[in-house]
Amino acid sequence: MTRFTVNNQPVHYKMDPETPLLWALRDASNLTGTKYGCGTGDCGACTVDVDGEAVRSCQMTIAKAEGTFVTTIEGLSRDRSHPVQEALIASNVPQCGYCIPGIVMAAAALLRKNRNPSDSDIHKAVTNICRCGIYPRLVDAIQRAGR
Ligand code: FES
Repeated sequence: MTRFTVNNQPVHYKMDPETPLLWALRDASNLTGTKYGCGTGDCGACTVDVDGEAVRSCQMTIAKAEGTFVTTIEGLSRDRSHPVQEALIASNVPQCGYCIPGIVMAAAALLRKNRNPSDSDIHKAVTNICRCGIYPRLVDAIQRAGR
């Protein structure tokens, strides 16, 4: 059994310890805001926060998550929208929306460390793939969210 904290709640998953965190969150905790895209660590749709770092949950086993504090998009915006979400909405950034939870998690982790990221900082930290091509508006919105 693996034990860690998800959105400030203790969790005990009775699953194979090699289960990707993504599937424990979605299937056992019903936290379906964390999306499956590629399953290979490339797209970022599955990004969650683990101990303050943006992590691709399809690439982390629940055994590796033992003892950590995990935050999903549901935990990030439980009481009110996160400033990144507000900036994305204000700038009409989302199109289909599928990649947005992962992007918000990556951008929120960046802004916790750097409130004034350059374009280059954002491109290095938010490597999520968006099939709709929202990147130019996304960079502006993340910078606005940091101010
Ligand atoms: Fe995890 Fe694409 S589903 S990076």
